[in-house]
Amino acid sequence: MTQVFDVERVLAQLTLEEKASLTSGSDFWHTQGVERAGVPAVMVTDGPHGLRKQAEDADHLGLGNSVPATCFPTAAALGSSWDVELVTRVGEALGRETRANDVAVLLGPGVNIKRTPLCGRNFEYVSEDPVVAGELGTAIVRGIQSQGVGTSLKHFAANNQESDRMRVSAEVDERTLREIYLPAFERVVTGAQPWTVMCAYNKVNGTYASENHWLLTEILRDEWAFEGLVVSDWGAVHDRVPALAAGLDLQMPAAGPRPDEEVVAAVRDGSLDEAVLDVAARRVLHLVARSLPGVEADDSFDVDAHHELAREAAAAGSVLLKNDGGLLPLTSAESVAVIGEFARTPRYQGAGSSQVNPTRLDAPLDALRATGGAFPFAAGFTIAGGPAGDDQALLTDAVAVARDARTVVAFLGLPGPDESEGYDRPRLGLPDNQVATLRAIAEVNPRVVVVLANGSAVSVTDWRDLAPAILETWLGGQAGGSAVADLLLGVRTPSGRLTETIPHRIEDTPAFGNFPGEAGVVRYGEGVLVGYRWYDTRAMDVAYPFGHGLSYTTFGYSDVAATADGTDVAVTATITNTGSVAGAEVVQVYVRDPEASVLRPTRELKAFAKVTLEPGESREVSFTLGARDLSYWHPGLHRWVVEGGEFVIEVGASSRDLRGSVSVDVEGEPLWGELTVMSTIEEWFAHPVGGPLLQSALVPPADMGPLDETMQAMILQMPAKVIADFGLVGFDREALDALVAKAAAG
Ligand code: BGC
Repeated sequence: MTQVFDVERVLAQLTLEEKASLTSGSDFWHTQGVERAGVPAVMVTDGPHGLRKQAEDADHLGLGNSVPATCFPTAAALGSSWDVELVTRVGEALGRETRANDVAVLLGPGVNIKRTPLCGRNFEYVSEDPVVAGELGTAIVRGIQSQGVGTSLKHFAANNQESDRMRVSAEVDERTLREIYLPAFERVVTGAQPWTVMCAYNKVNGTYASENHWLLTEILRDEWAFEGLVVSDWGAVHDRVPALAAGLDLQMPAAGPRPDEEVVAAVRDGSLDEAVLDVAARRVLHLVARSLPGVEADDSFDVDAHHELAREAAAAGSVLLKNDGGLLPLTSAESVAVIGEFARTPRYQGAGSSQVNPTRLDAPLDALRATGGAFPFAAGFTIAGGPAGDDQALLTDAVAVARDARTVVAFLGLPGPDESEGYDRPRLGLPDNQVATLRAIAEVNPRVVVVLANGSAVSVTDWRDLAPAILETWLGGQAGGSAVADLLLGVRTPSGRLTETIPHRIEDTPAFGNFPGEAGVVRYGEGVLVGYRWYDTRAMDVAYPFGHGLSYTTFGYSDVAATADGTDVAVTATITNTGSVAGAEVVQVYVRDPEASVLRPTRELKAFAKVTLEPGESREVSFTLGARDLSYWHPGLHRWVVEGGEFVIEVGASSRDLRGSVSVDVEGEPLWGELTVMSTIEEWFAHPVGGPLLQSALVPPADMGPLDETMQAMILQMPAKVIADFGLVGFDREALDALVAKAAAG
């Protein structure tokens, strides 16, 4: 076994060239070793929902073969479980497989916010909400790292689209970054200290993430106290010298000798401080040292147990969107036809670097038939949308099969090429040939259950009335087929909830008009109104709201209470399983600030808990919210601010199904800023010192009558300097300058 080396002793004996070489990979997947100093190379590899360890033909697009590994549900599915404990267990299993394959770091999770349903990589991301993405991201990192291997939290930051991802500049205002795009990363970094953070390809406000000092050093290190290593996304570094200076430690993959030589030259000519290089080299050495015990250990993993876990997780992440008349679960006595190519050719993961070579694969049709029923099948359509004549013949067959059955389960979804890393989705809806088949079968048999397989929201508005039941399974991993059989047959009860809103139309979505950008720039014009924050604040109708999901049982909420103590708010609610089977409810706590000096979303999720209850069982759940949960990022003060006064705490089963609401009075902080000559009269009056000073200084001329309402409103908006320049008696620039000085002195 390789001796774990002493990082400081090794660093002290390295030459400048060796230190420079440590700051990039030695090949596609390995760090650089220094044989002379006893430093081995270690392997890092994708991620996020399974291990993609390539034995040969390395690439980052999922082309080359990789060793068999469990393909767990993608983040879209896993996240929809809202189950911290389950996600931690999946993380532990991922960690075991990583370790068993002698890999040091699994490249995941991805916690970028789903800004638009069209992002090609949404299946790899958790949510449109930062609390959900951050909590579940923390759980998976904790799980993986508990096994002595590392993670890579990615893609930091504002990588919310695939179009032009390697060059585009995400133009995002400071408040929106702080409230929407950074907090999931912050939660995971502060809560779980991932071994590495992966910087994104794109620019953030004009500067490549890989060269962004504000992002990689001021935010990540100085504010969040990140202790690990910053690795680049594969090919995201264009100039290693400024990247090192900004806070990048490791460029991946190997980039040839030139960047190393440039680093050496920059240190020699004094343009890069050697101490900066030492910091990066030390972090690489530390990563290697901490991973050696796991990499060197001789261990394996239990393929069957991991498959079972993948099945449990896929079921927990499936969302029952509708179930009119209790069509589901199916009863063993009814004859059930299975329609749709996806039933025998499942879609279970997306394309690109996250593609896992699964240890096995369950198709829904096989899993259903394994329970003993006949389950007659018709493909109904081709996934790729074949020539019209072929699809018409498949449709005709499907209608015949559907007509003879009591109930029909139609497996629909997005074709594989619709969802991939590297480009965005071409459409929000399902392909026309699938919808045509659904229409035709619904005409002969109204008892239709639609099972969806897609990695990101699809529009359902045009066809949902044709199906009394819809089960969204996302891309559920290798055991998704058996999980869906469990759910359809009632072996398990659905308990997933939407982590992203399902909109009616692409035109309704927040980024519409500002996506995917133009001329190398994408402007996040919707600001903080992302996901349900947008739909709820604008009171728009949606197909299914954030947080929504049905069960085979029902839940009652009672005794919703909230009390404030300073800026801490204690929230409690009692949840009761009011139906006849066991099930799990996801209790969601939203905060609303009805009056604020900035636009705040109508409601924002701040806490949640998944509670499993037997029929008739009740449980009290409690949450503690802190100042940060009530605050917004003040764009002028550049910090978090709690504005005192009324806050409404809403507890419910989705952002549109609120079961209890309590107002609390919160002690906030005074919000006056420093007064200047350009502060408005309104700002002066709101200031406890400056207000009275200005009041007594503004003496209206004796012949002036009282100001009417319009005049008053106009004056309130005017900077004090403009009034002073108008030259009122006793109030000129000198007098104003004196007031500014007095107000500053308090
Ligand atoms: C992806 C990363 C991935 C890396 C290595 C990149 O193209 O954006 O998520 O970890 O390749 O495969």
